Amino acid sequence: MKSPIRVAVTGAAGQIGYALVFRIASGEVFGPDQPVILHLVELPQALGALTGVEMELDDCAFPTLVGIKKGSSDDLQDAFADCNYVLCVGSVPRKAGMERGDLIKVNGPIFVETGEAIQATAAKDVKVLVVGNPCNTNCLIAMHNAPDVPRDRWFAMTRLDQNRALSQIAKQSGAPVSEVKKLAIWGNHSATQFPDFFHAEVNGDPVPEVIENHDWLKGEFIETVQKRGAAIIQARGASSAASAANAALHTLKDIIAPTPEDDIFSAAICSDGSYGIDEGLLFSFPLTTDGTTHSIVQGWEHDEFAQQKIDATLKELREERDTVKDLLK
Ligand code: NAD
Ligand code: LMR
Repeated sequence: MKSPIRVAVTGAAGQIGYALVFRIASGEVFGPDQPVILHLVELPQALGALTGVEMELDDCAFPTLVGIKKGSSDDLQDAFADCNYVLCVGSVPRKAGMERGDLIKVNGPIFVETGEAIQATAAKDVKVLVVGNPCNTNCLIAMHNAPDVPRDRWFAMTRLDQNRALSQIAKQSGAPVSEVKKLAIWGNHSATQFPDFFHAEVNGDPVPEVIENHDWLKGEFIETVQKRGAAIIQARGASSAASAANAALHTLKDIIAPTPEDDIFSAAICSDGSYGIDEGLLFSFPLTTDGTTHSIVQGWEHDEFAQQKIDATLKELREERDTVKDLLK
């Protein structure tokens, strides 16, 4: 048996947390031979509900779950101590009629303390995935407040957008979702994101050749993916939870296993200036990894339509960065 890894989840008693922690405990992500100690973190007033989650985890008797530590948001340094992964879910979700960026003033400050605590006590190899919205800019704030944690350890989640896009293309083309590849999300996890159908493939053929209705690709497809979060809030009366938790687990799998040669994955990472994106901005790109080091896929060309979409999401992320400039170090 390997030595245990420690995985912290903030907001662990919330709707995404509840859909997430059991699957981590089950061995689905890190494997059946990798013991896991879960650090479950909540606001003080939610610690009672968190005890219920802990009891249910006990009652699953997962062989891979070898410890549970409950932590309060009042003491994040204790909560994140020695953690190899920190999943930042805890924050307020948007309600109908709001844009994710509207949450910036409410949720942004949480990520100052989060970054400081990660730097102070997390394991030296820590990797951080931010799910709480607006996730790109929250991740930027945390990263700035943990300057000693290398910048390639920070991820904000756009896998949910990628999965939404994969499903839409599969339905429209009639191909199974497993045959849709290289579907990248560029930019922000917001209504300006660009789901890049130009470089995507179905059964190895370019999507614009497989799907002849380019009006659909340029219009309804992009809009459906961009506005899917709002459509779910409208329909369910609450923001996506099971699919969001699934995407968070999918992101962990994306970053710990080598990317298949015929595919890419998307997450927002700290830009190195590729594709003219400001260095240091948390921007979603097409990525590949060998399981240890990820890199941005280079050399994709964008026509005027695609470049305009990328410019629009870049502009929004610059504005978000300006809004939180007081929280950046
Ligand atoms: P929720 O309200 O059901 O749960 C959030 C939990 O976080 C609550 O239990 C709350 O007590 C806890 N919490 C709040 N502030 C905290 C803090 N400072 N420290 C620790 N815990 C804290 O919300 P949810 O539906 O689970 O959504 C959580 C976040 O994820 C929201 O911001 C939502 O917008 C975001 N989200 C992101 C994506 C994505 O694709 N990136 C997808 C879905 C939801
Ligand atoms: C989503 O995409 O479902 C989440 O970001 C929740 C939201 O506010 O849209």
